[in-house]
Amino acid sequence: MSKRVIMAAGNWKMNKTPKEAVEFVSQLKDIAAGAESEVVVGVPFVCIPGVVEAAKGSNIKVAAQNVHWEASGAYTGEVSCGMLKELGVNYVIIGHSERREYFGETNEMINKKAKAILESGMIPIICCGETLTQREQGVTSEHVRYQIKIALLGLSAEEVSRIVIAYEPIWAIGTGKTATNEQAEEVCAIIRQLIAELYGSDVSEKTRILYGGSVNASNAKELFAMPNIDGGLVGGASLKLDAFGKIIRHYE
Ligand code: PGA
Repeated sequence: MSKRVIMAAGNWKMNKTPKEAVEFVSQLKDIAAGAESEVVVGVPFVCIPGVVEAAKGSNIKVAAQNVHWEASGAYTGEVSCGMLKELGVNYVIIGHSERREYFGETNEMINKKAKAILESGMIPIICCGETLTQREQGVTSEHVRYQIKIALLGLSAEEVSRIVIAYEPIWAIGTGKTATNEQAEEVCAIIRQLIAELYGSDVSEKTRILYGGSVNASNAKELFAMPNIDGGLVGGASLKLDAFGKIIRHYE
């Protein structure tokens, strides 16, 4: 069976103003044109309208970096799936380790968000990953399986075949310390095996599993060539046109 379409997804985090975002995406359009990879930019909420407009007519898709699971209501400071969908958002990144650590996001919240995102016709990019201590304690597999099992509770096989999972070891995020190809492959394979256990191998062969954590222009090609790695969730390097362009065109 041929591998899934490789995704190069940028996670800008809290970077770039709306104006800077539009400038960046206008230039990225040419670099991304005709690429074999699916190109996604995960931008701050306030950048979404401008970026969707700037990406029109291109192969660049837009992701939000968070969402609330309720459709509307008294949730000061939150944004709903309906609001994002109306703007033209395709993907929503949920469960990033920074949101878990700084904003108290739990596996249960991530599960509610995943359901709401799918119901609204968007696709969740569900993040998981272990700390350095957990890796040293030898509980990486248990930890990641636990995170993903709860995130997927109640989702149908059809939904799981459409979602994206991003394995991001916390010790590799923003540290310049990338997981080796083998370390990244090992955990992505564990996640795919879990999906096969829960939903069967037809589904697990369709679900895209990305690696994230210090992906850059020089390591993307080898990482994305691993059998169970279907692309990358890219932080720092996605903020630079040259580096992100090389990641998008890693196969050249
Ligand atoms: P990084 O971030 O590429 O800067 O390590 C990845 C992420 O947090 O998604």
